[in-house]
Amino acid sequence: MKNIFLLLLTLSIISCENIKKKENMSLVNVNKEFFGKTSDGANVDQYTLKNSNGMEVSVISFGGIITSLKAKDRDGKNEDVVLGFDNLGDYENKSPYFGALIGRYGNRIKEGKFSLDGVEYKLAKNNGENHLHGGLKGFDKVIWDVEVEVNKSSASLMLRYTSVDTEEGYPGNLGVKVTYTLTNEDELKVKYEAETDKKTIVNLTQHSYFNLSAGLRKDILGHEITIDADYFLPVDMTLIPTGEIREVVQTPFDFREFKVVGDDIDLDDTQITYGNGYDHCWVLNNQDEGVRFVASAYDPLSGRLLEVFSDQPGIQFYSGNFLDGTLQSKEGGNYEFRSGFCLETQHYPNSPNQENFPSVILNPGEKYNSETIFKFSSR
Ligand code: GLA
Repeated sequence: MKNIFLLLLTLSIISCENIKKKENMSLVNVNKEFFGKTSDGANVDQYTLKNSNGMEVSVISFGGIITSLKAKDRDGKNEDVVLGFDNLGDYENKSPYFGALIGRYGNRIKEGKFSLDGVEYKLAKNNGENHLHGGLKGFDKVIWDVEVEVNKSSASLMLRYTSVDTEEGYPGNLGVKVTYTLTNEDELKVKYEAETDKKTIVNLTQHSYFNLSAGLRKDILGHEITIDADYFLPVDMTLIPTGEIREVVQTPFDFREFKVVGDDIDLDDTQITYGNGYDHCWVLNNQDEGVRFVASAYDPLSGRLLEVFSDQPGIQFYSGNFLDGTLQSKEGGNYEFRSGFCLETQHYPNSPNQENFPSVILNPGEKYNSETIFKFSSR
């Protein structure tokens, strides 16, 4: 009798444990599924992180691409607020960097060349005369090793990639680790780490296109944006900074207070003309403060608010001006002109060729460390 009682007690403890585990699993969890095969036959998986509020972020091992991000509107509805495709082929062949990790160098390098210690390095000119986002096969098109970690209050994906010496023209073997963490505070944290065995340059970023209305509106012109920056970087016709650091005051680039994106986007202004809208790097304030608030975006229709925190000196605000209605969206429609915006935290474009810009050099023995946080809420 006593034995039976003990057995029953043990069984009930075990089943309680299982329920607890299940509860935890249903709160914060990671689901893995097959996403597709690359054109050279490599398998690509998709990992979906879910937090206790039902927020979800899906990432594929190809390019570390965020394929979907579901966040709550003011009525508590979790909906997808990032642009993307429903198949791997489009990510491989057509993508304007939707959701991707960007490296080794996010943004443009003038004429695809730079020098370190008197040695000139030549990179692909994949954007007119300039180099853009790491070259022909940047970090957005490579397969990353993925490791999963789930805790009570967050779920993480650790993505690793080794870019070999001379890959895309860059010097040094570069080991890169990017950690995506989804927390129960509805934050997506992106942590970048890198090390090299030879002096090189590094500027990593994340290239998600957001439309916080979750497709309710076909363009992002009704969103309101703030950028904590007193200065921005004027560019030439090819979007390379001229080297001038210009005050935003009394320009269409003043986002120090919430401003509707569409308000000044078609003004007769040389910088707006060169960008065909906004496609510029802002010089963020408080650069010595580490991770701090840098920008936010609000969609009055859905009530969704995105706040961006980062330790980076710059942010590229791109208003989706190259989208032209030709790309098919994952929902079946098409991505129209300015239907998504990017807030890419980074060092300034063309820094290797601009002595007055903060350095992007990484030496052997040093650790590249950077963090950006995308925090979602609604009001
Ligand atoms: C970046 C650039 C843009 C554009 C997009 C990709 O944001 O600043 O000019 O090239 O990437 O289309």
